[in-house]
Amino acid sequence: MCGITAYIGAEPALPFLMQGLSKLEYRGYDSAGVTLVDSSGLFTCKTKGRLKQLEDMLETVPCPQKCGIGHTRWATHGVPSQMNSHPHTNEKNTISLVHNGIIENYLALKEELLKKGYKFKSETDTEIVVHLLDDYYYHEHLSLFEALLKAVHQLQGSFALCIVSTEEPDVIYAAKKESPMVLGRDKSGTMCASDAPALLAYTSEILPLKDGQAVIMKADSLQIFDFDGVPQEEEWIVFPYDVHAAQKGGYDSFMMKEIHEQPSAVRETLRGRFRGEMVYMPEIEKLNLPARGIQRIYYVACGTAYHACVYAVTQISARARCAVSAMPASEFRYGSPYLDEHTLCVFVSQSGETADTIAALKLAKEKGAVTAGVVNVLGSGITRLADATLYTCAGPEISVASTKAYTTQLVLLTCLNIKLADLLDWGVFDQYQLIEDLQKLPEAIEEVLKYEKKIAELAELLRYRQDAYFIGRQLDYPTAMEGALKLKEVSYVHADAYYAGELKHGPIALIEKDSVVIAMATQPKVAAKTVSNIEETIARGARVILITTQQMKADRFEHVLRLPELSDELSAVTGVVLLQMLAYYTASIKGCDIDKPRNLAKSVTVE
Ligand code: M6R
Repeated sequence: MCGITAYIGAEPALPFLMQGLSKLEYRGYDSAGVTLVDSSGLFTCKTKGRLKQLEDMLETVPCPQKCGIGHTRWATHGVPSQMNSHPHTNEKNTISLVHNGIIENYLALKEELLKKGYKFKSETDTEIVVHLLDDYYYHEHLSLFEALLKAVHQLQGSFALCIVSTEEPDVIYAAKKESPMVLGRDKSGTMCASDAPALLAYTSEILPLKDGQAVIMKADSLQIFDFDGVPQEEEWIVFPYDVHAAQKGGYDSFMMKEIHEQPSAVRETLRGRFRGEMVYMPEIEKLNLPARGIQRIYYVACGTAYHACVYAVTQISARARCAVSAMPASEFRYGSPYLDEHTLCVFVSQSGETADTIAALKLAKEKGAVTAGVVNVLGSGITRLADATLYTCAGPEISVASTKAYTTQLVLLTCLNIKLADLLDWGVFDQYQLIEDLQKLPEAIEEVLKYEKKIAELAELLRYRQDAYFIGRQLDYPTAMEGALKLKEVSYVHADAYYAGELKHGPIALIEKDSVVIAMATQPKVAAKTVSNIEETIARGARVILITTQQMKADRFEHVLRLPELSDELSAVTGVVLLQMLAYYTASIKGCDIDKPRNLAKSVTVE
């Protein structure tokens, strides 16, 4: 998704803008640009391609301006091109703006502006906003801030906007609706960005802007209003990560660094969650669930976080005394999920800003359901909307491919399930062993990380393959889904996950000599069944990587990786770490851009 940076202060703005944009690279982008402003005018420089190209273009240009805005664009309306990249300026070159989000009614607004004689240079939805501001400022004689407030009332869809102008070169205006924006300030000035990592080198005090807020930023002040111009309170938080946590720390990619951070991420997520043999979750206790007569529970999310939901539901469905289901947020929001005051909806998200998940959460709230978020990013959209938030304490996840966010979601959802079973009186959840083993998980993950060299060798099996097949049953199935997603996402090898028992109902037709099958067989009740399914693929020439328990009789297979002994529920955590490494090494031997896979964005803040 697009990334925004803005700075106004006593220092030249460009260094802040560029470092901030580089910290936002994880969001994915195809072009980049900046506008700098002072009393002599606007200077805009933008290009299709990487930030390095923008840097090269700016290298020989003196840039002393102390006010500016920056942008990395991830194309939604109009191809990646210099013209479509941001910032966008009006014809007089007196107003410039950057935008993250989608203006849904841009065609209708464009028609009106065309009738008024405005000429468009780009195919973007964004450009209408700069012409609207021009119209309100120069023709209706509103102040720039009034023009912004009038404009945001016209816009449907999502937006985070930053605006500079030669008319007021000592101000930056910003506005937010459904796209993220955080503010910061230090001794030198005032700044904002799409996400906190862009600010962390300057300040750890962050103000996450709320939907429906607009800001007047000056070098030494910052004022927040709602879209009707009513002043709003400032709600600052101290961001708990330092800037070094967002660097690669000796690894050649963020993905590998984050894979190795999983023992500590899991430890942090579990910190303080146990009181003896019980789960401690005051956030959930406050929801007063027993009195609400909960009759159904939905776990809702996108992508990797959705796989965590499938895990949570598979884990709880045998025990729950009510209906439980997992749904992708994009289906939930447009389906007809049964929602009322007896429904609990759990929304899972690393970023807390995923557009579909937020829309699903809003729908659940509208219908009166009880809502809870399982989120990694402090102060993000979901945390501000949900009735309760449980934080995964994974730290900043920069790699587009989610790793430590997923394993921390699995452990936190396990704790949540134990808590729900307890609160809603569902009876036995073999929780004492599980709680003991949850606490052993960080060491168990350390153990499986030792397979790294072996996994690097196994990745050779996939070097020239176009497809891979992941299979598993019960709690192994979400792991298979996540392994397949990871592999296709970073190595571009097409991969699918199947319930092992479904293989012979179709997919086995695809198996041929040297097909690669990755089998998870960690659940004692069904592991032997999965092993029989593997035999069927081997009979057709498949090369199999089997991930299983210590006890399983499987020495006859070519490649067997055994997981540390823990409660069955937790093999999904240790097992997926192996699959993350397999995806990483496959991508690495194929020379892929691991942290920034093509076409993907870290945070999908548009539908
Ligand atoms: O920030 P979220 O957890 O809400 O993001 C959801 C998905 O977009 C995300 O998990 C995506 O599937 C990852 N790239 C997977 O590695």
